[in-house]
Amino acid sequence: MSPNPICSSSESSSTKLWIVHGVLAGAAIAVAIGARTYLGGSKRIRSRVVGIIPAHYASSRFQGKPLVNILGKPMIQRTWEMSKLATTLDHLVVATDDEKIAECCRGFGADVIMTSESCRNGTERCSEALQKLEKKYDIVVNIQGDEHLIEPEIIDGVVKALQAAPDAVFSTAATSLKPEDAFDPNRVKCVVDNRGYAIYFSRGLIPFNKSGNVNPQFPYMLHLGIQSYDSKFLKIYPGLQPTPLQLEEDLEQLKVLENGYKMKVIKVDHEVHGVDIPEDVEKIESFMRKKNLS
Ligand SMILES: *[C@@H]1O[C@H](CO)[C@@H](O)[C@H](O)[C@H]1NC(C)=O
Ligand SMILES: *[C@@H]1O[C@H](CO)[C@@H](O)[C@H](O)[C@H]1NC(C)=O
Repeated sequence: MSPNPICSSSESSSTKLWIVHGVLAGAAIAVAIGARTYLGGSKRIRSRVVGIIPAHYASSRFQGKPLVNILGKPMIQRTWEMSKLATTLDHLVVATDDEKIAECCRGFGADVIMTSESCRNGTERCSEALQKLEKKYDIVVNIQGDEHLIEPEIIDGVVKALQAAPDAVFSTAATSLKPEDAFDPNRVKCVVDNRGYAIYFSRGLIPFNKSGNVNPQFPYMLHLGIQSYDSKFLKIYPGLQPTPLQLEEDLEQLKVLENGYKMKVIKVDHEVHGVDIPEDVEKIESFMRKKNLS
């Protein structure tokens, strides 16, 4: 189950220059500020890492989802316990706007940061939590509360990938796409270059075989929800204007690429079990029983 980076970067880190690709006029200023910050900081190793588990109570599809009981334990506790096993995290916190969630988390020993109800997504919640933390961190890992089966090795994998790629501000993970998910728009596909940097993410099948069929020989990649960010980048990320491809696909991470930032993708072995609707709980419990996971 250990992540094998598609490509471990071998180039010397200190000589790398920050390159801004095809910047659109509207985003030019924000990107220029970002670029200068990273140029200045690129010699320093980003060593201090915080894991943040954003947890939101009110969800249109699944009210109170983080607290749902899975084989006798709240889902958020499972995510927290799994994340605790990651060796690269200096600190782990739950970020929530809800007192019930906060109370539950303090009950099993988690640190909790209260964030405002106005956060529109997990990224914004992580960004707000980062500003409220007492200590400074170089890297933030956004661990989604409903991916409670995320292996700690995957968390460590995305952190190490970002540390090894000083020209990247973002890292994430992908696993093999199952052929039956090829045309499911809820399964996001991605393609990377030969050094493991993201080229594009899509709800459509990429690459698209000329024949119009799924190519059984091609190693298609399925994007996973875990992501880590350079903390300076996380401060400006939610404020970057939405971009055309992001809006068209409804994929937040495209905003990163469209603004010319670099993103590292590691390839891992992982079976996806998101809990999106109450009916998913039973499915995941039977999967866990089968695999002897408790
Ligand atoms: C498309 O997929 C087939 C296998 O189904 C493969 O042989 C072929 O090389 C792929 N690419 C093109 C351009 O047809
Ligand atoms: C979060 O949600 C808001 C509103 O939908 C959106 O503008 C923003 O791009 C999203 N992503 C980030 C990183 O803030």
